[in-house]
Amino acid sequence: MQFSVKSAAAESVTTPCLVVGLFEGGKLPAAVQALDQASHGYLAKVAKSGAIEGRAGQSLLLFDVPKAAAERILLVGLGSEKDFTPRNYRKAVVKAVRALNEAGIKEAVSSLSLLDVKGADGYWLARHAVEAAEEANYRFDAYKGQSKDKQKPALQKLTLLMGREHGKSEDGIKVGSAIAAGVAYTRNLGNLPPNVCTPSYLAAEAGRFAKGSKLKVTVLDQAQMKKLGMGALLAVARGSRQPPKLIVMEYKGAGKDEKPHVLVGKGITFDTGGISIKPAQSMDEMKFDMCGAASVFGTLKAVMQLGLKINVVGVVPSAENMPGGDATRPGDIVSTMSGQTVEILNTDAEGRLILCDALTYAERLKPASIVDIATLTGACVIALGNVVSGLLGNNERLVQSLKAAGDKAEDRAWPLPLYDDYQDSLKSNFADFANIGGREAGAITAACYLSRFTKNMNWAHLDIAGTAWKGGAEKGATGRPVSLLVQHLLDQT
Ligand code: BES
Ligand code: MN
Ligand code: ZN
Repeated sequence: MQFSVKSAAAESVTTPCLVVGLFEGGKLPAAVQALDQASHGYLAKVAKSGAIEGRAGQSLLLFDVPKAAAERILLVGLGSEKDFTPRNYRKAVVKAVRALNEAGIKEAVSSLSLLDVKGADGYWLARHAVEAAEEANYRFDAYKGQSKDKQKPALQKLTLLMGREHGKSEDGIKVGSAIAAGVAYTRNLGNLPPNVCTPSYLAAEAGRFAKGSKLKVTVLDQAQMKKLGMGALLAVARGSRQPPKLIVMEYKGAGKDEKPHVLVGKGITFDTGGISIKPAQSMDEMKFDMCGAASVFGTLKAVMQLGLKINVVGVVPSAENMPGGDATRPGDIVSTMSGQTVEILNTDAEGRLILCDALTYAERLKPASIVDIATLTGACVIALGNVVSGLLGNNERLVQSLKAAGDKAEDRAWPLPLYDDYQDSLKSNFADFANIGGREAGAITAACYLSRFTKNMNWAHLDIAGTAWKGGAEKGATGRPVSLLVQHLLDQT
């Protein structure tokens, strides 16, 4: 989609369609009062008629509005004026774009960017308008065959009205477009069926992704992992016919001596649970168990598009967790690359097994910071639902900076404690420790496990089990936490 900004009064713009907000109770925002006056109060009259009350999620398309330069006006409900939050602003843009698509409108001008949003400047308003519009225009129909669902969204061009801060809002469009491209890439990878998206597919995808760019890609195969002593990663892959891959993607935007920010993404392309097999209900959703990996690809896409002047390395351990004849058994003991031994008491706690060896591998990159992103625990979904991602780490500054990045990006994460007291639950009678704790505090004990491999690094962990995808009628990958991660990296420049 194409975006631009324009400083003009709402009443004077010629366009196939002008988007206008309406607060609950029928109040028009200040920026469109003049438009309403020019039309001799037509908009206020429509609002008063009850045809639209201004509740969030409502919209109404008007033709032939008296004296308006626009051919059509799309009224969009904003909800209560008092509670008009950044989140409601994004929701209004999403609703507007959906309604424009339904009406088959190809080109529109939005006055929503003139709204007063708490703490938001022109940069913020433009950036989030772009992110929200692209979110609404996203389709995944590569596998729809001939079915009618395969329909391109109508809207191709959106102009944002801006009062002031023209330059800043153009920056907002740039950053918003890069984040939106990264989010869409992550959603595409996440939505792929698991018979297509295998570890080998992700490795080949990294190659395609890097082509013609300055990204350097290295893929380690099974033999190389064996040499490095990655017994935990290899143990997860044993039950599958698909060989595991360790994908390393290096982006250099700064001098070669500058320490990189490393992102490690869980790339389980399908998680049956292995011998500790999962129940059948919703098991198809375990194709999304590579969304951490997908978020690393998406974040790098945005970083490259923005040409950030930092070094970033993406590390993606990838395997399929299957219960084949050679699969790992509960009770098996493996040796990790770090030298520590692990008793695998539950083969369904496989994410931490592939991550621990990837984290040890990443230590040689001497990271300035290292963040792993993983659909790691059902317990995190119980604790936090699908609103925020779980956030833990061994460095309070890094944790707080990621939390702040999530707030700014409207892609929130919330800290959980990583006190030593929780470490005891990983005790094993036979190995250095086990790969699971008890039933309690599962998101925390999983992070405790990872913390044993990151002692020498500035490390944080994002558990995105609840936020990486949606189930139900709108089943699909969300692209989270790409915007949080891009914001975090922007904050390092
Ligand atoms: N990929 C799952 C986590 C998951 C489950 C994410 C449901 C989203 C929805 C992970 O590999 C897993 O199976 N974790 C186990 C850990 C347990 C065995 C300690 C879990 O959460 O049940
Ligand atoms: Mn699992
Ligand atoms: Zn898993």
